[in-house]
Amino acid sequence: MEFTELIAKRQSIRRYKPGDIPVADIEKMVDAARVAPSGKNLQHWHFIAIKNRELIRAVGDAILEENERICRITDAIDKTRADKFRAFVRNFTLFFLEAPLLFVVMAKQYEPSGYFEMDFANLDKAWLILEKNPGMQGLGAAIEHLTLRAIELGYGSCWITSANYADEGIEALMREKAGFNEPNYFMAALISVGIPEENQKSPPKKALSEILTILE
Ligand SMILES: Cc1cc2nc3c(=O)[nH]c(=O)nc-3n(C[C@H](O)[C@H](O)[C@H](O)COP(=O)(O)O)c2cc1C
Repeated sequence: MEFTELIAKRQSIRRYKPGDIPVADIEKMVDAARVAPSGKNLQHWHFIAIKNRELIRAVGDAILEENERICRITDAIDKTRADKFRAFVRNFTLFFLEAPLLFVVMAKQYEPSGYFEMDFANLDKAWLILEKNPGMQGLGAAIEHLTLRAIELGYGSCWITSANYADEGIEALMREKAGFNEPNYFMAALISVGIPEENQKSPPKKALSEILTILE
């Protein structure tokens, strides 16, 4: 597929047709992520690919449990707001329960160039360098490689960070079920992948003139 066709085809896919994803295809997707750029070439990512229905369900349960814990606290202050958050998790997170494949994306932060020097020089803006978060910028490149390769293979995906508040429960599951124990790694995103159902809408994008400034 031509690159321009590939990026035009890209959209978040939240509804899937039945159909398995072979291990060979999972390997191709992660191999695309593998060659992505990262600051200092740290490649500070790990993709846990889950096809096991029981484990996907367990990830969903960990999210629901944390969502409900937050909502119960919010109930006492604003029940409408709590119910909105309950509905949000169903619409914008738990659709992955119907996907044949779920990636749990583990990643690690790092201190970019300049941080230690600024910290050593006692410059209180050092934290700003961390906030610009080059670690997560590299991870974004890797995830985008993966999702574009998924399209080339005939799949659709959705990048999901709306479950990151349930990180502790999901990380515990990954330690227990996947044996993932890398120090300082945290759950950074989920990616659901499957054969896309037709007619899924995407929101409009900004015009080129709004996002581009050219100085000649
Ligand atoms: C970092 C990131 C996090 C996202 N998290 C979620 C999410 O938790 N749930 C969801 O349904 N979509 C999520 N999305 C998808 C966006 O909502 C989507 O990309 C955006 O609305 C544009 O739509 P499109 O991807 O179809 O063009 C996320 C996308 C990115 C890049």
